[in-house]
Formats: sequence, structure tokens, C-alpha cells
Amino acid sequence: MPLPPICTTFEPYFLLSQDRLTDIVSHFRKELEEGLESYGKDVAMVPSFVTGVPDGTEEGTFLALDLGGTNLRVCEVRLFGQHKFEIKQQKYKVSDELKEGQAKVLFDYIADSVDAFLTDIGSDISSNEPMHLGFTFSFPVEQTAIDAGKLLTWTKGFNAKNAIGNDVVKLLQDAFDRKHIHVRCSALVNDTVGTLLSRSYQSGPALIGAIFGTGTNGAYIDKTRTVKKLGEDKIAEAEAGGEHAGQFMVVNTEWGAFDNGRHCLPVSIFDNKLDRESINPRKQAFEKMVSGMYLGEITRNILLHLIDASALFNGYSSKILNTHYGFDTAFVSGVEGAKSPEEVKKLITSQLGVEAKHIQEADIEIVQWATKIVSDRACKLAATAIAAVVLHTGNDKVPEGEEDKGVDVGIDGSVAEFLPRFSERVSEALAEILGEDGSKRIRMGLAKDGSGVGAALTALQAKKALDKRSEANSQFIPGKKGPSHQAR
Ligand code: BGC
Repeated sequence: MPLPPICTTFEPYFLLSQDRLTDIVSHFRKELEEGLESYGKDVAMVPSFVTGVPDGTEEGTFLALDLGGTNLRVCEVRLFGQHKFEIKQQKYKVSDELKEGQAKVLFDYIADSVDAFLTDIGSDISSNEPMHLGFTFSFPVEQTAIDAGKLLTWTKGFNAKNAIGNDVVKLLQDAFDRKHIHVRCSALVNDTVGTLLSRSYQSGPALIGAIFGTGTNGAYIDKTRTVKKLGEDKIAEAEAGGEHAGQFMVVNTEWGAFDNGRHCLPVSIFDNKLDRESINPRKQAFEKMVSGMYLGEITRNILLHLIDASALFNGYSSKILNTHYGFDTAFVSGVEGAKSPEEVKKLITSQLGVEAKHIQEADIEIVQWATKIVSDRACKLAATAIAAVVLHTGNDKVPEGEEDKGVDVGIDGSVAEFLPRFSERVSEALAEILGEDGSKRIRMGLAKDGSGVGAALTALQAKKALDKRSEANSQFIPGKKGPSHQAR
């Protein structure tokens, strides 16, 4: 059945040609490079102070905390080596009041949840030492050390007051200390960094860790020298084996803020409406076209526009359709995965609340078309982000004289997991951008639990650095036996 003519007025904003994709990728590379050169850029390119990826042999038991997805998650992670781990976890709801209230109240709630977890589930960590905790905090943070970083801005519906500009590790540690909870937050980690580490721990070295969930973002490994904004001294210190020794640095791109200046993204009237009505207008432009928090809302805006033009459901709406964020991306995934028009009709009645008598056969096709253009665009844009990082790091080709090991990308998040054919659609777009040969080298695989396992792995890295430092310090304490005394 032909689509109503009104659809053709906005469809082009959702169909991205090969040329358009190439153009977006070249803008993307430019913004990645700008973020590495100087602070304060939209694509923040945050050095994580994680200097390598694990090899699967790591062992130990750590606490992990995950804030920034749908729930707050507290985990106890046991790393057994041999690429194996075990997680005990508990989820806690973060209400809208907490998300938008005072930061102190939010962090007190987080500390209380850790306390409740330790009491309820019990912990196998028994020692007089404080327990080491890796904090997966999935918001843009300007990190200054593995255990310190200032919040740049909130995203994904969070807007707690008196947090921006503050060190989030300190906010958390202060809450633990106020409540006499014997836990030390030793590592701050973005979920993408966690995903990269977790994927590497489980299935061998990866280049990128990416989240396509409530929000979107990616982290990758770069040469420390490329992170020019760190300054020559810090780079040289790192390379010479200083505190953050390493030739390599995991960089958290914060690609959700790509093209906030709107130079190349296909911004339709529906995207503008969504942005204007969001709590962070003119921010996270890329995220608002790609991630789970928004795909349902873009679809809702399209359907309402068609209803207002009497081109859908006989012009009848519903309470859900009239409600801001009335339904989420699960509806889009549901329609895309439906096996028959009857199944789509059921979803329209049950999830959108439209009365069956207003739904014609053509309406079902229109709804299917709307979810398809929204999710196709999201998949293609997801591919531009991956392609930009692959090109930036020179990984589109086999390095000269080396065996082709391919490029591994760990992905996680509800869109990656539940949007039908997500990986295949991204791969198809990668082939358009990089060519068949380039795209074939890229392996994408789900890296579940990145925020738990990755935080534990980062806490382990931080603990090792801490132990090394205190060992080094102890060598200089008069009368105390340290390795240097023994050596003499
Ligand atoms: C945040 C990132 C995070 C991503 C995925 C974005 O909104 O800015 O820090 O990695 O969501 O959770």
C-alpha cells in the first residue's frame, strides 16, 4: 500500500545515502581529533587512565557499582582468571525525585544501597582492609586520575543539583564515610570502558567497547601520545613508566555529544521537537538519534504528526500517544520483531492504547514503516561512530607486515541486545562506509555485564597501582624492611 504523501516530506531525514554516511564519518573523525587536542570540546575524548586491556588471567574479588543505566546496580564480582567470572548482584530503583533532586541525597541513597547489598547478600570479601569498589558512572566526566573526575554534564534524564563540576568519587566516598561504610572507591569507570575491558577479559583483546542502550557512547584504545591535551609532561611521564605507566590509554569518547553544532546530522522536525522538550536541549545530539531513551519518543512524534494530519488511525490518538515519553523503545523492537500484521495490531492496542476500531490495515503498515525508518537510521548512525574510531586508529586495514587479526568491538545495552538484527544492520552500514573488506575485519559481539566486570577489572588495576605506590613509599621509611634494603 502506498504511504500517505505527507510521509515523503520527512522520510529523507531517515534514509541515509552512502555519501551522507561518508560525510558524517569525516565530521566524526574531525570531532574525535579536536577532543584529543583540547579540553572543553563536545566530543570530550576523556582519558580514562586505564592503560591497557586485561588478558583474562586476572583474579580477585571486588565490589562494583553501576549508575547510569535503567537501575542502580550493586555487584560483587569474583574474577577467577581463565576468562571466567561470577557476579552476585542486586538492582535498586532510582526514582525521578532522586535523579532530579540534590546530589547529596542521590549519593546517600547509593551508599545506603551498597550497605543494604552487603547486608542482604553478604560478601565473601573478609578483611580488615576496606573493600575496593569500582564505580561505573556512565555520564560525561573529565577524569584526572583512575579514581578522580569531575562531572561535566548530566545525560539520560538525570539532573541532580550541585553535582556538575564536582568530583564524583569524592561525592561517593564522602557518603560512605558519613555512614561509616568500610568501602573504598578506588576506580572510576565509564560503562564503555568497562565494556571494553570486560570483552577483552572474556574473549581476547578488543579495540572498542560501545554502549547502545539508554544512552550511547564508545571507548577505545589509543596511543597515549595521541591524547595531546594531556600535555607533553604527562605524556612523557606516562611513556617513561610514571604513575600511569603506558604507551596506551583507553579513551572514553563521549560520542553521544557528536555534532551538537548540527553540521551534518539529519535533524528532522521530530528530532527538533524531542530536543526542545528534553531536559538537556542542544546537548547529546547524536545520542538523541541513536539510543534507547529516544527511539520510542521519535516514533511517537512521527505517529502524532500523522494523526494530526488525519493520515493515521482515522485521526484518533490515545492517552499514551499524547504523553511525553509515553512508550519506549521496547515498542519499536516489538514491532520490528513481530511476525504478522495481527501481532503489530496487538502491540498498537496494548502498548499504545489505540482502540482496535480505529486501526486499518494501512495503519499497521504505516506504524511498521515508522519504526523501521527510526531504527534503520539509528543502526546506520551507530555504524558511523564505529567506523570513525576504526579509521582514526588506522584499523581499517591490516597493519603492514602483520597477520590479520581483525578488529574486535564489544557492545552492550538494550538497543544492541533487543533491537532485531542490530549487529547485522550495523555491519551492513559499515560495509557501505568501509567497503566489504574493511567491514569484514570488524567483529562485533555482546559483552554483557561490562559495567560490573569492567569496574572490577579497573578496581584491580587501581589496587595494583596503589600497592605498588605504598610498597615504593615503604622503602623510604627508616628502619622499615623493604625490597631495597633486602637488595643491599
Ligand atoms: C553518557 C555516557 C555513557 C552512555 C551510555 C551517555 O549518556 O554520557 O557516559 O557511556 O550514555 O550509558
